[in-house]
Amino acid sequence: SQPLRIAVLPGDGIGKEVMPEGLKILEKAASQFNLKLSFEHHDWASCDYYAEHGQMMPDDWKARIQDCQALYFGAVGWPDTVPDHVSLWGSLLKFRREFDQYINLRPVRLFDGVPCPLAGRKAGDIDFLVVRENTEGEYTSLGGTMFAGTEREIVIQESVFSRIGTDRVLKYAFEVAKQRARKHLTIATKSNGIAISMPYWDGRAEEMGKNYPEVTTDKQHIDILSARFVLQPDRFDVVVASNLFGDILSDLGPACTGTIGLAPSGNLNPDRLFPSLFEPVHGSAPDIYGKSVANPIAMIWSGAMMLEFLGRGLPQGEQESYLKAHDAIVKAIETVLASGPRTPDLGGDASTQQLGDAIAALI
Ligand code: NAD
Ligand code: IPM
Ligand code: MN
Repeated sequence: SQPLRIAVLPGDGIGKEVMPEGLKILEKAASQFNLKLSFEHHDWASCDYYAEHGQMMPDDWKARIQDCQALYFGAVGWPDTVPDHVSLWGSLLKFRREFDQYINLRPVRLFDGVPCPLAGRKAGDIDFLVVRENTEGEYTSLGGTMFAGTEREIVIQESVFSRIGTDRVLKYAFEVAKQRARKHLTIATKSNGIAISMPYWDGRAEEMGKNYPEVTTDKQHIDILSARFVLQPDRFDVVVASNLFGDILSDLGPACTGTIGLAPSGNLNPDRLFPSLFEPVHGSAPDIYGKSVANPIAMIWSGAMMLEFLGRGLPQGEQESYLKAHDAIVKAIETVLASGPRTPDLGGDASTQQLGDAIAALI
């Protein structure tokens, strides 16, 4: 069969430092498990490209990558030179929308050997998935400013919750919950204060839940839900949330497990009509860029998620090696976290490359 085409987009800042480690691991896994991967490297979707061209991506960006099976993405943003809303709406948020990556799947897990900021928690106590709506909700460019520059200035920013958009993320979350041991889904809303969209979301969740009698649910307002991430993280299994709430929960969750430097994500088009995008949850971290201290595990684990997703899209006989490669990478991450070198966010003084090398050596 044809090799799987993967577009590689390192982006900005530490995206450029963690990407080589991610690729190192994918190449090692490809040779060990006989995977056919073909990488296509792009230096656009970056603020460097913007500095030269006045836009984040070439006009024909879509044609260049839409036939790839996946996008492997570092991070975008360099607020000193390009305003964040310009760089992000000109790249990552465009990919999510144009490629209809309506699921943002973000695992949160406390690993053995990682210092946990929450007292008394050990590996296994925190292990849940955030399923974030990824194409609509609070992230829109609908709205505007009236009476700009005067005392009467008014700024309006609309939110959008379509039935299709709400139902498809809820369905995905119920399906994922159904396949897990605990079969529990938490629905994050705020139907006391956000009195139109959030009761709507609650209602659609209740409706969808009728198709999943085996899945238990609870709905929680986002404020107390955030508190419970800290106080009772063991009660969560799958958490489904709107775009903005899911964004916040997917930094808070990993922070509760010690560092955001571990947190991976899959921006999925589950129907496989377009390429899905795999990236760390974290950003370009200008504060540590250039020192080779960024934790590459979020990037590496995102690569493992990519292999799993790609594998599941292949005919039965070809899936296994991809799933095995995924498992081997996760196992290597576990081993290194338990006893290997550590980057500073994990309390050590190892470099980005040392961590990458240690993980590669175990695959
Ligand atoms: P950030 O995630 O880049 O950094 C937040 C903090 O976490 C920083 O102190 C940073 O040093 C630390 N950190 C992040 N990743 C780390 C890693 N792998 N290892 C060790 N420490 C790590 O968030 P920010 O500072 O709000 O944003 C910086 C830029 O990145 C902005 O331009 C922002 O818009 C952009 N951003 C991009 C993405 C993305 O591309 N997906 C995500 C978040 C932020
Ligand atoms: C993320 C990021 C992005 C988001 C930003 C950079 C637009 O924070 O992937 O979590 O808000 O979705
Ligand atoms: Mn975020």
